[in-house]
Amino acid sequence: MENNFIDNTNPRYLATLILKGITFEEKILDDFFFGKNFPILNQKDKDLCYFIVVGTLKKFLLIDFILKKFSKIELNKVDPFILSLLRISTFQLFFSNKLPSYAILNEAVKIAKFKFPRKKYISGYVNGLLRTISKIGDHLKFIENENLNEMTKNSLMLNIPPFLLKKLLSSYELKKIKNYFHHAQNPSKYYAVLNEKKISLNKFLKLLKDKGLEFEITPEEILIFNKIGELENFVEKGFIFLQDISISKFFFKLKEQIKNIDEILDLCGAPGGKSFSLKLHLNPKKILSLDKSFKRLLNMKKRIKNLSFNNICLICGDCTNLSMFKKNFDLVYVDAPCSSTGTYVKNPEVFLRINERKIKSMTTIQKNILDKAFKKVKKGGYLVYSTCSILKDENEMVVENFLERHSNFESINFSLENKYYKTFPHFLDGIGFFSAIFIRKE
Ligand SMILES: C[S@@+](CC[C@H](N)C(=O)[O-])C[C@H]1O[C@@H](n2cnc3c(N)ncnc32)[C@H](O)[C@@H]1O
Repeated sequence: MENNFIDNTNPRYLATLILKGITFEEKILDDFFFGKNFPILNQKDKDLCYFIVVGTLKKFLLIDFILKKFSKIELNKVDPFILSLLRISTFQLFFSNKLPSYAILNEAVKIAKFKFPRKKYISGYVNGLLRTISKIGDHLKFIENENLNEMTKNSLMLNIPPFLLKKLLSSYELKKIKNYFHHAQNPSKYYAVLNEKKISLNKFLKLLKDKGLEFEITPEEILIFNKIGELENFVEKGFIFLQDISISKFFFKLKEQIKNIDEILDLCGAPGGKSFSLKLHLNPKKILSLDKSFKRLLNMKKRIKNLSFNNICLICGDCTNLSMFKKNFDLVYVDAPCSSTGTYVKNPEVFLRINERKIKSMTTIQKNILDKAFKKVKKGGYLVYSTCSILKDENEMVVENFLERHSNFESINFSLENKYYKTFPHFLDGIGFFSAIFIRKE
């Protein structure tokens, strides 16, 4: 008898379930790969699972184009688990050399049979479709022969939804967009900031060496790792917190720009990354960190406890109503909710959720938040606005609109060449991050 048993810690089976969670249930990658949510897998299987899910998400448009072309059933009528299985299998057929085609196919059929043991037609469909797809050969030649217009071709090859590609093209040259998105195919790295309150740099470096962990360190002492592995333990002990390099580098610069900060109001503060960097770099007496999400604040509370940062106070509230604060602050920080398009390299699922309407609604929210935030800045104090977006709509356009309406605020040039701080992943190997600094004149 044929053995269709699949252990439910099988990495390809799990990759299918995770992809289904992300594409059909609004889950995010971090729900599965960070913290303790992941079923017990050895590190090698966990890495494989991560490679398959992230890889599939970064080739999502192309994979669906191919599936759509050859499937006899419309994709929106295919069972979500089976569609996810087809997607991860197509990814492996074209973009991974870990298994030969026949083994990818056999494994997919086995998983389909395990999931639907009584529905033979389902495994038959998976088998037939993947068999056809495995005969395509070179996907580049295949796309070339499809007679597509340049926009569609670029959208498929770069994995950027057409509306977003049009929007990006209105701000950046195609070459720059291509650089970014080719670079974004690489696995993202993990960046950590040391908490010297808990461990000195020398001791921590020794610990890393003793454990045989590979790492790099920048002149600013930002630690760079290729794998999450042991890092979660260090985070729990409060030795480090994870903060993307693009963001950390911003705070090194901010420290040079502004001084003598006693009290900070961090609006949109949870789960805490910016508050922690503000604490380390500006050394204020107090930070009030507000957020409307209780869940994210609970997470932040745990992180603060790990780090033993005792002058950060948490407030659950809505930053469009700041009447509870009777005084003004030396610095008000707005890390606005945004499209998160800059985090694509780490969280490629952001592109599944984004559309024109959401971007519009984000920019309205961002403007509203700034319009309340500025009122809480002391005379001579600072207002900082940041996003993890690469869209001018959420960055330059929001801050310039603000400056036009508030002549008592002036933008501080970030550097000689640049008015604002802006990173693109292919320049600095982190997320796309934007920030603007304003000073209140009167
Ligand atoms: C980009 S995230 C903040 C990340 C955080 N600053 C950090 O560095 O870890 C945006 C945050 O804004 C919060 N938020 C959105 N609208 C809000 C509002 N009207 N009032 C307060 N918080 C809000 C969200 O709950 C989310 O936590």
